[in-house]
Amino acid sequence: MTTREVRLTSLPHGSITAENFGVFDADMGRAESGQVRVRVRRLGVNAGLAGRIGGSATAYGPGIGVGDVPASDAIVEVIDSTDPAFRPGDLAVGKSPWRIESVLDSADLRAIPRPKSDDELTSYLTILGHVGFTAYTGLTQFGEVRSSDVVAISGAAGGVGSCAVQFAKARGATVIGIAGSAQKVALLTDVLGADRAINRHDGAVVDQLRHAAPGGIDLFYDNVGGEQLEAALEVLNPHGRVVICGAIGQPAGPANYRNLIYQELTMRGFTVTAHEEGRPAFEAEVGAWLREGVVQSVHTLYAGLDRIPDAFASMLSGGTTGRAIVTLD
Ligand SMILES: NC(=O)c1ccc[n+]([C@@H]2O[C@H](COP(=O)([O-])OP(=O)(O)OC[C@H]3O[C@@H](n4cnc5c(N)ncnc54)[C@H](OP(=O)(O)O)[C@@H]3O)[C@@H](O)[C@H]2O)c1
Repeated sequence: MTTREVRLTSLPHGSITAENFGVFDADMGRAESGQVRVRVRRLGVNAGLAGRIGGSATAYGPGIGVGDVPASDAIVEVIDSTDPAFRPGDLAVGKSPWRIESVLDSADLRAIPRPKSDDELTSYLTILGHVGFTAYTGLTQFGEVRSSDVVAISGAAGGVGSCAVQFAKARGATVIGIAGSAQKVALLTDVLGADRAINRHDGAVVDQLRHAAPGGIDLFYDNVGGEQLEAALEVLNPHGRVVICGAIGQPAGPANYRNLIYQELTMRGFTVTAHEEGRPAFEAEVGAWLREGVVQSVHTLYAGLDRIPDAFASMLSGGTTGRAIVTLD
């Protein structure tokens, strides 16, 4: 049985580009005991993969070398199953290689109900998916977000960030989003409910952040690191909190980390996959917000397996809004 897959074909020199990948025919193998054969309906691409390309393993998975097929979270439809818990036609979320069809361990899949619309289906990769769970865990469990907080969020119009902005607003906080274009700034304030938003290309982020938060910030949710983290460390109020969710391509930590001492700040990192116990609370609260129309799925769609490399490279360079998702229907 054959399928089509996307492989890494060369290591990037500098930024990752679509040309570092190619599409190939591949043998698929049969489902053994405890496995299901699935057709991939939607694939979300993750910024976290970039750190493993040409590198070593991280908490998210093994290093990805030339010839390897990356994997990311997906909505799949079961074709054949050796597990009585899954029947042909069932939908599930899990991690899938970048392939049209795959054989996956059924224990790694979570069944989802068949939604009424394509939009509802996509929300299992956004607001109700891995990026939503990440934003919720970071903000509520580690950031302990409160309604009295002024919260700044970097990468605010991205996959995790667009969820974090909406969740912090839903919890009653004042929210300042930092993003990379005028269009994203407009999305943050006009659609997602951020109180203020900053374009990181419009001048020094520290000056813009001071202007947007004259009374300082209480919580910084960081998807990016670098200049944006250093800016937040200048503007955080005494006893402020920093949640380190991601550090896109940042080779070094903040030069002004001594502000943790002077302002008695707390900085906390987390890996969401180590906190699965929080999923029921996440699904209950965010599921209710979604039904009530308090939050919405934000995504950029690409159609077809051949577009996965474009979607991935564009997401990494700031070209996508919300979660970058490839439809394989
Ligand atoms: N801790 C965890 O368990 C966990 C789980 C999932 C994801 N993450 C992390 O969460 C972060 C967001 O992931 P995501 O998949 O949702 O990606 P994303 O935010 O959709 O995409 C990355 C965005 O980062 C922004 N960015 C800001 N400064 C950048 C720079 N110097 N270089 C490149 N991009 C820059 C870009 O948006 P703008 O141009 O708009 O700024 C870009 O679109 C990543 O750091 C990821 O590793 C952590």
